Amino acid sequence: MIPMVDLKAQYAEIREEIEAGFSEVLDSGQFIFGPQGQALEAEIAEFLGVPHAVSCASGTDALHLALAAAGIGPGDEVITSAFTFIATAEAIRYVGATPVFVDIDAHSFNMDLGQVEAAVTQRTRAVLPVHLFGQPVDMPELQRIAAKHELRIIEDCAQSFGAQWNGVMTGGFGLAGCFSFFPSKNLGGYGDGGLVATGSEAMAEELRVLRNHGSRERYHHHVIGYNSRLDEIQAMILRSKLRRIGSYNERRRHVARIYNERLAELPGLRTPWEDAEGYHVYHQYTILVEDRARVMAALRDADVACAIYYPVPLHRQEVFRDAYAGLSLPVTERVAQECLSLPMYPELTEEQIRTVTDAVTAATRG
Ligand SMILES: Cc1ncc(COP(=O)(O)O)c(C=O)c1O
Repeated sequence: MIPMVDLKAQYAEIREEIEAGFSEVLDSGQFIFGPQGQALEAEIAEFLGVPHAVSCASGTDALHLALAAAGIGPGDEVITSAFTFIATAEAIRYVGATPVFVDIDAHSFNMDLGQVEAAVTQRTRAVLPVHLFGQPVDMPELQRIAAKHELRIIEDCAQSFGAQWNGVMTGGFGLAGCFSFFPSKNLGGYGDGGLVATGSEAMAEELRVLRNHGSRERYHHHVIGYNSRLDEIQAMILRSKLRRIGSYNERRRHVARIYNERLAELPGLRTPWEDAEGYHVYHQYTILVEDRARVMAALRDADVACAIYYPVPLHRQEVFRDAYAGLSLPVTERVAQECLSLPMYPELTEEQIRTVTDAVTAATRG
């Protein structure tokens, strides 16, 4: 079976280092807020080229805390994409604000920036781009639009660790960049975790307070905060993988290049788009196929996993269906019908890639 992601293969490569790290953390007796977490924050800030990085318990929390620290709240509108994981919109709702969904671009699967301005109202306070599947949004263009309308930018970088636009890392463009360390992410821990990158000292300070029960000084609480901390074991694991993230992402791009070559010009199939200015890190390798059921059946027969990210756009999810009943997002809705993600991880072998592309090729030609 060729899985969507093979965390065991990755662990096999780094086992010794992780086991040694485990012993070090267990021997230290320090499990929450310690040297590993501090070092991870400093190393990630340096890697991303941002002044501050504040870790927290998940990518969902990173979005929630960033929106809260940015002062987004009830009555405010936040423009975002409906073609994403639910957490993007959940976080907007956690702070009492309203997600305003715009359609996506058919090539990049990211928010169609041409639609953002038309969605701006008196209540719009922020825009929340999602660098979906590891594909960076055209951030200079979004920054131009945001500046014109005085909108804050909170980036959802859950799937885009290491992705760049013109050499600048995603997460370094907005007021805040929110990352997830869910195990299957490009930089994933062995449990939940998240982080907010920011260029603002005040924002970083507010995030540190919010993630730790609204406290600046032990047992003194200034605001209602949260328990959203990254533990030392996760931080140790993430530091080990951070040292390898450049090569992990390069290997993902290598797999994508082979997929692209072999799947080019198949009838009824479109390979992923890449912007010339972008550095796509292929959290997912997602194609569009007219006869998706047929391709899925062929992959199943060849013992190859595949997945639909995402079958139901957010405005059509049960939780949001009534509130957005009148909203039509034709590109999002069509892409949800045709998208199919193929196995993607750094350790995929040439032979495995061949099995995947042979199955897809036979299904589209047959
Ligand atoms: C686009 C997007 N946003 C947010 C999240 C939330 O991250 P987490 O699962 O770490 O809470 C995820 C991942 O699950 C995601 O894919």
